[in-house]
Amino acid sequence: MNIRRGRLRDLVNLLRLERAAFGKEALSPTTFVGHLLRDRRSIFVAEDDQGNVLGYALVRLSLGWPTPKRGGITSIAVAPAHRRQGVGRALLRNAIELLQEHQVVEADLEVSVTNRAAQSLYESLGFRRARLLPSYYGANRDGLKMVLPLAPKAESPGRDGGGDGRHG
Ligand SMILES: CC(C)(COP(=O)(O)OP(=O)(O)OC[C@H]1O[C@@H](n2cnc3c(N)ncnc32)[C@H](O)[C@@H]1OP(=O)(O)O)[C@@H](O)C(=O)NCCC(=O)NCCS
Repeated sequence: MNIRRGRLRDLVNLLRLERAAFGKEALSPTTFVGHLLRDRRSIFVAEDDQGNVLGYALVRLSLGWPTPKRGGITSIAVAPAHRRQGVGRALLRNAIELLQEHQVVEADLEVSVTNRAAQSLYESLGFRRARLLPSYYGANRDGLKMVLPLAPKAESPGRDGGGDGRHG
């Protein structure tokens, strides 16, 4: 398995994966196109040795001056046939590293209270439950805010796509 930055030619596969993972609640194609066109560094793709897309992670970075930069995970998904093989954790590790490189001091994300798989994944890398978000996903569908304090980290050299994004 290899983790790399997303490319525009991944779009069809990403949208297929998104539908398989989230059904009616899939993110719009516009969201993916936005990440792929505006800042490829904010989209990680996991692929197998044949180049098949196994999963993705979308990272959110917002400028924070004069307060510390904020950022988090917008979405993460792994194709159903490839779950429980460490793909999600590898994607999440890359996303966290990117946030650290951008001097984000606390990563956050939202997850459904019923999504135990995702909560366990996040907890396995240190996220903790911060607060309940009542009806965040619609009537009677609560969310959870999870957070992870981060230590800053220098940017890793030679990453795919490292020179053509908007950040840094
Ligand atoms: C959540 C998701 C991304 C996890 O991806 P994955 O590749 O299967 O996760 P990993 O194999 O890396 O698992 C890492 C850890 O997460 C936890 N975990 C993952 N799936 C789990 C499950 N079904 N039940 C309980 N814990 C689970 C475990 O702690 C696991 O570690 P372990 O295998 O050593 O026990 C995947 O289930 C998915 O795509 N779900 C649908 C989309 C989704 O809900 N995304 C999150 C939106 S907030």
